[in-house]
Order: sequence, then C-alpha cells, then structure tokens
Amino acid sequence: LSSCCGGAIAAITVIAPTKIAATKSYPPMTPAPARTPSLDRTALSIDDPMSLWLVVDKLRPLNPVSWVPKDLTQVDVPSNYGAYMRAPAALQLKRMFDDYTTLNPGRSLKVLSSYRSYETQKSVWDGNYTLTALPGHSEHQTGMAVDIGAGTNKCGIQICFADQPEGQWLAANAHKYGFVLRYPLGKENITGYQFEPWHFRYVGAVLAWYMLNTKTQTLEEVFNLPAAPKYANQK
Ligand code: DAL
Ligand code: ZN
Repeated sequence: LSSCCGGAIAAITVIAPTKIAATKSYPPMTPAPARTPSLDRTALSIDDPMSLWLVVDKLRPLNPVSWVPKDLTQVDVPSNYGAYMRAPAALQLKRMFDDYTTLNPGRSLKVLSSYRSYETQKSVWDGNYTLTALPGHSEHQTGMAVDIGAGTNKCGIQICFADQPEGQWLAANAHKYGFVLRYPLGKENITGYQFEPWHFRYVGAVLAWYMLNTKTQTLEEVFNLPAAPKYANQK
C-alpha cells in the first residue's frame, strides 16, 4: 500500500503556483441545504476539466489527457512535498486544516500528495490497478484531489487511517468544506479502486452536502454514470 503515493511525489512539478496568503477572511461556509435536496445535475459540467463536478474515472480520462489546471495554488499547510491544488480547493483545504487544529488541540493533518501532473502520475504508477490510476485518469491531475494523513504519520496511505482520529474526523467533516471521500469501502466495483480513506476530492459544498444527505457515496452514482471497475481496453 505504501508504494502508492509516497516517494515519487518528490518529483512533483508545478508551473508558477501562487502562494495562498495566510488569511483569516475565508468566505463563509455554505449552509447545509435541506435534508433531502434535489440536485440540478445540469448546473455544472462533468466533462469540463475546470468544472468542480468533473468526473474522472477509468472510463472517463481527462480531455486532453495531459491537461494542466490553470489556477494551481500552493496551500500553506503541513505537507511532505508541498501542497498544490486548484484555487477553490486550496482555499477550503486551508480552512479544513486550520479548523482541525483548532478543534483538536495537539493533533494535526498533513498533505501526503496533492496535484500530480501527467508526468508525475507516470512515475507514481506502480502496476497496481486497484490503487493507482494511469496517467490522464487520475483525480490528482485535476488539482482537486488530495491525499491526507495524520501529523503523527500513523497509517499514512493505509486503510488503517480510517481508524485514526484524523481519518475519522475527515470522514465525518470533509463535506463541510466541499470534499468527499472518493473511494469508499464497498464501492470498489463502481470506482475501480480499493477503499482509500486518505483520498479526498473537492466537489464544492452543494454536491458534497447532497451526497451526504442522500447517502450517495460515489460520483458515478450521483450522475448515473456507468460503473468503472476497469479501463475500456483492460482485460
Ligand atoms: N490513488 C488514486 C486512485 C490515483 O492514483 O489517482
Ligand atoms: Zn489520492
């Protein structure tokens, strides 16, 4: 498991990121919508790489496959190799990390991996189809996905992160910041990946709350997309 996203991330390259200032003027959190909201599925694109609702999976590569986000931002949070996300995700990641530290004295979160370019994903790919995406098929290339660990370094990129206080807090609270746990337990045949309690995808507050309130666990189910257990040309 530890081979997924550890060492190779040192090779991350980012084009002129802007550093987010340590600001206290965060936008107010989107209030929780009604308990069983309906979702206007046409409100945002699921195909446009700049859309917050972009769905990338084994059957839905980035288009173009070498796509690079235009608003990559360095986030001022603890990390192993730097934290880089698209601007809207970066802002909410910073809020989530700061809130975690405030609410859980003595504990902290750490970014283990965030944006990965097509080339970086190539070097991360380890031949394990259920743990690592092929280049052009990774949410990390969208700039809207992040692997989060504990400041203690316990259970980094391991399933036991789900049992750590940090993993449990994230699972219960990430939606408040617009993040969803993208590869849940029991949905392996839909997402194509094993349970990854460390991998969070920014989709914005509206969709994150919708998924929580309706107990819809995957983007494929929200948007009535085919299950993506394998690549189109994979045996
Ligand atoms: N570990 C996830 C699936 C990725 O490589 O994008
Ligand atoms: Zn990940």
